[in-house]
Amino acid sequence: MKKIKSGIYGLNTIMDGGINLKSTTVVIGCSGAGKTTFATQFIRRGLENGQEGVFVSLDENKEQIIKEAMEMGWKDIMDYVKDKSLVFIDASGKDFSAFIKKELPSFVSRWEGADARIAIDPLTPVIWALNDRYEQRDVIGFMLKEMRKIGTVVATLEEHGTKGDLSGNEVIIPMYLADNVIHLNYMPMEEGLHRRLKIIKARSTRHSDNYHRYSIISGLGIVVDTNPYSPPKTRKIAVRFLADIKKMKRNLPPSAYKKLVSAVELMRDDDFIGMRMEDIMKSIMDEYM
Ligand SMILES: Nc1ncnc2c1ncn2[C@@H]1O[C@H](COP(=O)(O)OP(=O)(O)OP(=O)(O)O)[C@@H](O)[C@H]1O
Ligand SMILES: [Mg+2]
Repeated sequence: MKKIKSGIYGLNTIMDGGINLKSTTVVIGCSGAGKTTFATQFIRRGLENGQEGVFVSLDENKEQIIKEAMEMGWKDIMDYVKDKSLVFIDASGKDFSAFIKKELPSFVSRWEGADARIAIDPLTPVIWALNDRYEQRDVIGFMLKEMRKIGTVVATLEEHGTKGDLSGNEVIIPMYLADNVIHLNYMPMEEGLHRRLKIIKARSTRHSDNYHRYSIISGLGIVVDTNPYSPPKTRKIAVRFLADIKKMKRNLPPSAYKKLVSAVELMRDDDFIGMRMEDIMKSIMDEYM
């Protein structure tokens, strides 16, 4: 799977090197969590590399987004707007259903670039505009599918309520549809505000399961603390696993033996956390008895 650098400092380390090319990522957070910052930072990283950027805004206008980026210290954003490598699609106030079903596909079919970065910020008004769950799934799914035709997509979602457990109706459907889900979580603590990030899922990616502190720093944007996560590198258990499989060769059908031996190539030690080798081996043998 080809990876692209997210532009969010620290995130690549805990996401197996970056975001999968042409995947869809949903970033969930309450107001002020840093969703727009995330989306802008992601797009800006691509622009820096000569990739094009498409910013789909559903409630803030282009001027407001540019203003916020400038305030973050990202003055170069204006250069990209001028040379048209960054384009805005302003859908605020439109009939979202018609916009997504008609205007977006025509934009996509006219698009001549390759591998753009697309931000949809926030996706929430679309969900609210559609009251039927089936229609929400249909329209959001269609939108993500269309946009990924031209590149890698980041869509943000507002989280309402204070529980912070992602159980809200407005987040469930996009969470299922997206390849990756990142939660930006605010925790009011006695010593002040605590921001933490968690990767809820990332398809085809070995990612951290921990909470990671993050800050929003002028000029840089979101910076994620990669501790307490170190990418798994060791394969000691895999080596033991292979040795055990070899011992069991006589008791296994040849095709199963071959499959298990090739499976070992993918294993890393952290796949086995909390499980005993003997139990895994017993389950495998039971399967073929
Ligand atoms: N120029 C800046 N320098 C440092 N921190 C900033 C700057 N601008 C914004 N922030 C921080 O980022 C937070 C807002 O980030 P952002 O606008 O990305 O949030 P959001 O999740 O998009 O919020 P909303 O849901 O209201 O749109 C602010 O609350 C502030 O803490
Ligand atoms: Mg915002």
